[in-house]
Amino acid sequence: MNILLTGGAGYVGAAVARELWQAGHRLWIVDNFTTGRPETRQVLHGAGLEWVEGDLGDPGLLNGLLEKVAFDGCVHLAGSARVDESMAQPALYYRNNVANGLTLLDSLVRARVRCIVFSSSAAVYGTPQKTPIEEEHPTRPTNCYGETKLAFERTLHWYRQAGGPDFFALRYFNAAGASRDGLLGELHEPESHLIPNLLSASLTGLPVPLFGDDYPTPDGTCVRDYVHVEDLARAHRLALELLSRESRGEALNLGSGLGFSVKEVIAAVQGATGVGLNVEVRPRREGDPATLVASTRKAEALLGWTPEFSQLENIVKTAWAWHRRKSPSGAAP
Ligand code: UFG
Repeated sequence: MNILLTGGAGYVGAAVARELWQAGHRLWIVDNFTTGRPETRQVLHGAGLEWVEGDLGDPGLLNGLLEKVAFDGCVHLAGSARVDESMAQPALYYRNNVANGLTLLDSLVRARVRCIVFSSSAAVYGTPQKTPIEEEHPTRPTNCYGETKLAFERTLHWYRQAGGPDFFALRYFNAAGASRDGLLGELHEPESHLIPNLLSASLTGLPVPLFGDDYPTPDGTCVRDYVHVEDLARAHRLALELLSRESRGEALNLGSGLGFSVKEVIAAVQGATGVGLNVEVRPRREGDPATLVASTRKAEALLGWTPEFSQLENIVKTAWAWHRRKSPSGAAP
């Protein structure tokens, strides 16, 4: 397939790009490199893959590309993805995650592109009423980031009703881990995610915060569903390939179906690195639900997708292998 991929220099986007490319699809990757990592270009280059530097808010860029190439589908990951930032700057999130999505969607409709896979988030559920969370669970986001992801899911739904593209909205739980060859991994700037923070602290020896140990969970710390980034990437490919055969427009959860507490993740990181962490218990972080675990039944049934690399030990091992080579924190203390 000829595929337009947005946000391919990001953490998940780069893994998706590689998965699609290695499966033999031809890719045009649009990224403005504001949060994406420029070195992704050095890792992913060659025949059948083209980088297009630019912003989705620029309709000229997209229309030019869509006039030049007959695309069979689009995978849309470009956007902003920091919960705290979304609360301070809602306009940025509505612009990047909704308005720019609309510009893209209008261009796809004009060019008669028939399908789109959209990167959504478990943040659309807000605080769950029960876990594991199924796709029919009520969606009541508790932050602006989740609200904008849900808004674009609804946009896709109504465009499709009006003859627009078929779609899957993939609701990621906690994307984690690095590619098994150690070339692609996670390090945002600034970084807020648990595993990269623990790995950086393993290198620097600095204290690492544990946000809240008084949650109603077995050990008092938050429980999350960590899914390996290469498993996520494969799900995108399967979703796109299914849309090329069947007409659908719906959401799918992507998680491992297993929950691990912050304390269990800390233990796994210490096990993998052999470094004792200096953990400081701090107050709860605003907006953190106690437990988020996916039901993955629907993705398994529709896509035939089951996570292969998402064991916590494997997630931490691959993340550590990448992190210790790439992190600006430098060599181990
Ligand atoms: N945590 C710490 N210390 C840290 C970082 C995180 O204790 O230094 C805790 C958090 O409080 C939370 C857990 O580790 O309990 C996981 O936090 P992350 O920031 O790694 O991930 P979140 O579960 O907050 O976020 C994920 C996705 C978001 C998505 C959200 C849905 O990364 O994109 O789930 O609620 F919006």
